[in-house]
Amino acid sequence: MNTRARFTRMESSTKEDWGLIVPEFAKMASSLADRVLAHLRLLDGDFGGFPVDRLTHSLQTATLALKAGRDEEYVVCALLHDIGDTLGTYNHPDIGAAILKPFIGEANHWMVQHHGVFQGYNFFHHLGMDRNMRDMFRSNPHYEHAAEFVDLFDNAAFDPHADFLPLSDFEDMVRRLMADPKNTIYKVPIDQQAAPR
Ligand SMILES: [Fe+2]
Ligand SMILES: [Fe+2]
Repeated sequence: MNTRARFTRMESSTKEDWGLIVPEFAKMASSLADRVLAHLRLLDGDFGGFPVDRLTHSLQTATLALKAGRDEEYVVCALLHDIGDTLGTYNHPDIGAAILKPFIGEANHWMVQHHGVFQGYNFFHHLGMDRNMRDMFRSNPHYEHAAEFVDLFDNAAFDPHADFLPLSDFEDMVRRLMADPKNTIYKVPIDQQAAPR
C-alpha cells in the first residue's frame, strides 16, 4: 500500500491522499512536546556571557513561577519564554510566543511575546538604549501581566547559586499543555486522525 500521496500540485490532492497524510500529522502532533523539549535542551551550556546558561535561566524562571503558585500554563510559558534564543537572535520572544500560541490564552501569549522589552527596563540603559521602551505598551491590557512576569520571575532567574527544579519536573507539564491545542486553524477531526492507512 502507498505510504505517500501521489499529487504533484496541492490542488490535485485527493481525499485518499489526505487519508495518508492526516495520520502522519497526528503522529507529528503527538510528539511535538518532545521536539520542543529537545530544542529547549539546546540552551544547556549556552552562557552567552551571562552568569548562568540559558537552560538554567529557563529552569529558574519556571521554578520561581511554580513555587509562587502559578498555574501549569503559566509555568510552561516561564519555562519556554527564551526557547527562541537559538534561532531568533533579533526577536527571540516572538519564537517562544509562536510555539506556545495554540495552547495558551491571550494574556500569557502577549506576556511571552513582549517579555524582552519589559526585561529591557532592567538593562537597556547600560547599552545606551531606552529602559522605558516598555512604556509604548502602557495602555495595553496585558502590560501589568507582562511587567509582573519579568519583575517576579524572569528578572530573578540569573543566580548561579539558586536551587531550582530539573527539566524532568516540567516535562509532563509541557506534554499536557501541548496535547490540547485551542487556537489553531489545523483542527483535524478525531475520526480523520484515526483514518486507516
Ligand atoms: Fe528573553
Ligand atoms: Fe528570560
